[in-house]
Amino acid sequence: MSDTRKLSPDAALALLAWYREAGVDEAVQDQPANRLAASSASSQPSQHGGASAPQRAAAQAGLPPGAAAGLSGAAGDPSDPVLSARERARMAATLEELRNLLASFEGCPLRYTAKTLCFADGNPAARVMFVGEAPGAEEDLQGLPFVGRAGRLLDRMLAAIGLSRDSAYIANIVYWRPPGNRTPTPQESQICRPFIERQIALADPDVLVFLGGAAAKEMLNRSDGILRLRGKWFDYDTGERIIPALPTLHPAYLLRQPAQKRLGWRDFLAIRARLDEQSAR
Ligand code: URA
Repeated sequence: MSDTRKLSPDAALALLAWYREAGVDEAVQDQPANRLAASSASSQPSQHGGASAPQRAAAQAGLPPGAAAGLSGAAGDPSDPVLSARERARMAATLEELRNLLASFEGCPLRYTAKTLCFADGNPAARVMFVGEAPGAEEDLQGLPFVGRAGRLLDRMLAAIGLSRDSAYIANIVYWRPPGNRTPTPQESQICRPFIERQIALADPDVLVFLGGAAAKEMLNRSDGILRLRGKWFDYDTGERIIPALPTLHPAYLLRQPAQKRLGWRDFLAIRARLDEQSAR
């Protein structure tokens, strides 16, 4: 890499323009890091005990030693990250194991630009689970979903129907912040999808809520916009159980379009009614 301290102002401006053109719109570190060198080094056998990458991943996830065989493709086959993600997600018997398997998963490019993994917040035993799009800047700093401005609105919406982070479980369809808060690409969503599917299956809530178009479309395999999908109940099949799922407007959208809050309010009342109806059975 050239030494940019020696660039003339014109050359520096041209370089910046070139970065922008290439889609580089955010500096994530002061110094460049050679990620290719880092990842090939990390795929070398450990100097401490000679454990293979799958063995290290299984140990980090707290899985039994024999489980490493099931992770054979996970660290060793970066060419098919979706397959690796599926293998890993399938191995997790608890949310804790899933979190650990995700923490050592190298297949999602977002992990290299994000500061932290954002797995979940709230109560995993809650009857209702909310699934959003992706962590933003504040979430990336704290490692928790929905703790920024949109999260504060979500907290007020939860409180309005008698819920809180003690009675709701919260996650996203992708686990690392996309640079510049852009929408996750279809590829990034597909790579993370086995993990969020497994997270939903393990949390096994009574009611699922998809916050915003990205989460609703991805998890329900629909192409309709959120204004068409919102307020309608869908069946979400975990493979073991059907969970009623409601797409609604994303709190960040409601911050930009406050007039739409009445639709959000309607959906939240529907969530409350569904929970009450289930408890009355
Ligand atoms: N928006 C989301 O979709 N998720 C977060 O965690 C924060 C903002």
